Amino acid sequence: MLSFSFYNSTMTNNNLIQKAETVLNNNFKEDKGFTIPCEGLYPFQWNWDSGFIAIGFAHYDATKAKREIEALLSAQWENGFIPHIVFHNDSDTYFPGPDFHQSKLHPLASKTHRTTGMTQPPVLGFVLKELYDIIEDKVDILNFIKRNIDKVYNNHEHFYTYRDPNKEGLVYIYHNWESGTDNSPIWDDIWATMDPPKYKFERRDTTHVDAAQRPTNREYDYYLHLIEIAKEHNYDDAKIAELSPFLVQDPLFNAMLIKSNAALIELYGLIGNSDDKIKTLKQWQTKAIKRFNEKLFNEKLGAYVHYDLRNEKQIEYLSSSSFAPIFADIPNEERVETIVKTMMKKFGTEDRYLCASFDPESDRFNPKKYWRGPVWINLNWLLYRGLKAYGFYDLSNRVKKDSIELIEKYGFYEYFDSRKEVKENAGYGGNNFSWSAALLIDFLKS
Ligand code: GLC
Repeated sequence: MLSFSFYNSTMTNNNLIQKAETVLNNNFKEDKGFTIPCEGLYPFQWNWDSGFIAIGFAHYDATKAKREIEALLSAQWENGFIPHIVFHNDSDTYFPGPDFHQSKLHPLASKTHRTTGMTQPPVLGFVLKELYDIIEDKVDILNFIKRNIDKVYNNHEHFYTYRDPNKEGLVYIYHNWESGTDNSPIWDDIWATMDPPKYKFERRDTTHVDAAQRPTNREYDYYLHLIEIAKEHNYDDAKIAELSPFLVQDPLFNAMLIKSNAALIELYGLIGNSDDKIKTLKQWQTKAIKRFNEKLFNEKLGAYVHYDLRNEKQIEYLSSSSFAPIFADIPNEERVETIVKTMMKKFGTEDRYLCASFDPESDRFNPKKYWRGPVWINLNWLLYRGLKAYGFYDLSNRVKKDSIELIEKYGFYEYFDSRKEVKENAGYGGNNFSWSAALLIDFLKS
């Protein structure tokens, strides 16, 4: 007979999974076949959100998982670029919308969809592999992958051709919104080098969420200014590399690309007849991992950091992105020990949930503000997978347990307070947030 506590926790888990499915189903837009991150605050399709969302759907609705990916890829540019937002629909609850971004200034922008002219962490490669692993009908999912994998390959080729001016295997981002960790204190050093005009605009995010959890107006000036520079040059990558004051090699972004390279190698292996592509992917991969370890590791801090390519220096701060390379098998065994020690000492004390998005010991840490401290479920999911793969079973289980507990206690929020002493209302940002729901399903089902 099952013991009561086991029965009880199974009940709770099933209940949570059901709630998560409801969040995802409510955020899915049936006509266009994509899922909004959450109502009001994020009313369009976001690139890396869709990847995580598809993983959640894969566990109970393979059709939706496939439609999600196809909806994103339908907006791919002719040069392989995949934009960060696809404006499938109109909405006046978000700024800046398609009229501000004007991505069609780029001659190879999507002719069929309105999009932004920037991208997000390239998760699609490894997401395809996740879908293959999760979805039971292997013939059907492999056919789906066959139809779409070259699009993801072309995207990687675009990165290595146009986003790697030194040809060193590391790609740059030119905007904080490309990083996925939009409001991280990492960018403060770059804002200090800029003096943009004060733009006139109407914020929409602060009508949905407490302003104390969101960026300031002055920070929005920096964000808009970077877009204006890119627009002035029709979103030309070479011009951006030459002129953008924000030019960063981000360890999270590059780790996602490397993990996706590895997944494409495996998937092309399954598909067969793809030797040339596998060979090129392996070349990119070897070069990327070597340079990543040489350039982005900081011995003093004991983890990876961002590299400011415009000002040719490391940005010496720890964030959850500092640990993300564990997910992509980038550090060797010795280095991973160092990284885990750093994580435990600074982020993993018993009074905290793992994993704060920014160094809790830094004076830039803010436990409530958007990427300046709170825990994010997608970063936790990456860390959980990485720690487990390196054999840190206790720690990976703690990350998983913390993630589930936060959602169970507070709901499907966008981000959470890492301090255990905060007992009420520790969920912040948008509620009914899609990737928190999707990855909760994966945590509980795999
Ligand atoms: C926020 C996050 C970004 C995410 C977007 C939509 O801007 O910083 O990573 O993609 O919301 O959820």
